[in-house]
Amino acid sequence: PVSPARAAGGGVPLVIAHRGASAYAPENTLAAVDKAAGLGIRWVENDVQRTRDGELVVVHDDNLRRTTDVEEVYPGRAPWKVKDFTAAEIARLDAGSWFGPAYAGARVPTLEQFVNRVERHHQKLLLEIKNPELYPGIERQTLKVLGNEGWLDRSHLAGRLIVQSFSADSVRTVHELKPAVKTGVLGTPPMGDLPVYAGFADQINPSYRSLSRAYVSAVQAFTGPHGRPLEVLTWTVDDAATAQRVAGYGVDGIITNKPDVVREAVGG
Ligand code: G3P
Ligand code: CA
Repeated sequence: PVSPARAAGGGVPLVIAHRGASAYAPENTLAAVDKAAGLGIRWVENDVQRTRDGELVVVHDDNLRRTTDVEEVYPGRAPWKVKDFTAAEIARLDAGSWFGPAYAGARVPTLEQFVNRVERHHQKLLLEIKNPELYPGIERQTLKVLGNEGWLDRSHLAGRLIVQSFSADSVRTVHELKPAVKTGVLGTPPMGDLPVYAGFADQINPSYRSLSRAYVSAVQAFTGPHGRPLEVLTWTVDDAATAQRVAGYGVDGIITNKPDVVREAVGG
């Protein structure tokens, strides 16, 4: 294990299970949340999109082909976009067999189902609003579901919820709608843009491939909208050597498909 770097939160980086513990169970399913919990992992990341009839569902790609049997079940419905199917249609899909027979019958969860499973395990959630340009108003709707399910109370806001997106506009919208929610911008914005981002984002969350010690330090030198240093969560790190390297840069968290491997590597 590395000696703890100077992560803004102090101590070793958080370990965040990417799409659940998605090296070991099908991504973005309740089984992947359960797997992370079974490994003792406190943080889970997911991806939120919207169905044709307006339900928020947890799935990464903008179409259903890679992670479900949608082509078999609905052969005439190419290109099988999430936004072209109703929630009831998606609920019929098998989102586990592609990963392995042990997971046959796993479903694409609704956001409501997903957060309730995270809650049941007393875990914390890094929620990504995916492809918001396809889903006008998804920020308000996501906050509504979170609020309905009890995720916008003081205890959740104080340290159990982060909302992030590659779309800075989407992150800004979340911040404006509900300033108490902790937020993150995905990607590696130029350092010159950081003063603007620090107005509405608490985190800058880059790929480890574009990360340097200097960049991490530059981000952490800014103060975010809640009066604390901006944080850096990096993705998607699945090997011990890379985890130790980025921990040495002082990142605040590591998003990983193999949270057990990363935890072991960074001594968390
Ligand atoms: O949370 C970071 C990471 O999930 C961003 O990339 O494509 O896996 O959503 P992606
Ligand atoms: Ca994601």
